[in-house]
Amino acid sequence: MTGRPFIVAIDGPAGAGKSSASRLLAARLGFALVDTGAIYRTVALAASRQGIAFDDDARLAALIPTLQIRFAPPAAPGGAQQVLLGGEEVTQAIRTPPMSLGASAVSARPVVRDGLLELQRRLALAPENRGAVLEGRDIGTVVFPDADLKIFLTASERQRAQRRFAELQQKGDPSTLEQVLEDQRRRDRNDSERAVAPLKPAADARILDSSELDLAWVVAALAGEVEARLSARGSRK
Ligand code: DC
Repeated sequence: MTGRPFIVAIDGPAGAGKSSASRLLAARLGFALVDTGAIYRTVALAASRQGIAFDDDARLAALIPTLQIRFAPPAAPGGAQQVLLGGEEVTQAIRTPPMSLGASAVSARPVVRDGLLELQRRLALAPENRGAVLEGRDIGTVVFPDADLKIFLTASERQRAQRRFAELQQKGDPSTLEQVLEDQRRRDRNDSERAVAPLKPAADARILDSSELDLAWVVAALAGEVEARLSARGSRK
């Protein structure tokens, strides 16, 4: 039995360190990395380019099957992986503030969430993957309720806002820490109170607080656990 790829779900609110943890873990294990937030962002980008309103369910539903969204290895070693829409690289274009808002809006539409389920599963379960790390909000609850390992990564509200504030400052954005905090509260409320797939830990998720833990240590511990479980699986073949 070869079995399906080993699935690691990493969910949690914005700014908890999910991206770094997922990237490091996937690189260490040689697993595929599926950044599901990037997928929602790419839908928002395609919709805005085609003049489709973020709440136009009929047109969003028709748009999604026409999109070819893929990930490619980073252009430089250690960098972020590339996001491709058709043949175009959109890695930067999806990270602007309007696309953050757009992704938040389209991700609240059930037609969009349903329309993206198959793509997320297909990217993770590709036969060439030994395993996959999926980063998102509803991976352990909806996309892969039977994931092999579920992590819910969180951090204090202030720490998350401070991390985001530092990132924005580096990009020359003039927002104040208070504005970032306010924005974050609004997004947290949207994400956790929406009717479909709200942000909440799966009952069997391990909850880790990155304000209290060293991320490198967490990644090393998780990688060790995954390797041990993979070799136990291998010896049961
Ligand atoms: O993680 P991110 O900031 O790139 O995510 C962009 C938006 O997409 C964010 O508002 C939350 C939403 N999202 C979601 O609803 N479900 C996911 N699995 C991933 C992201």
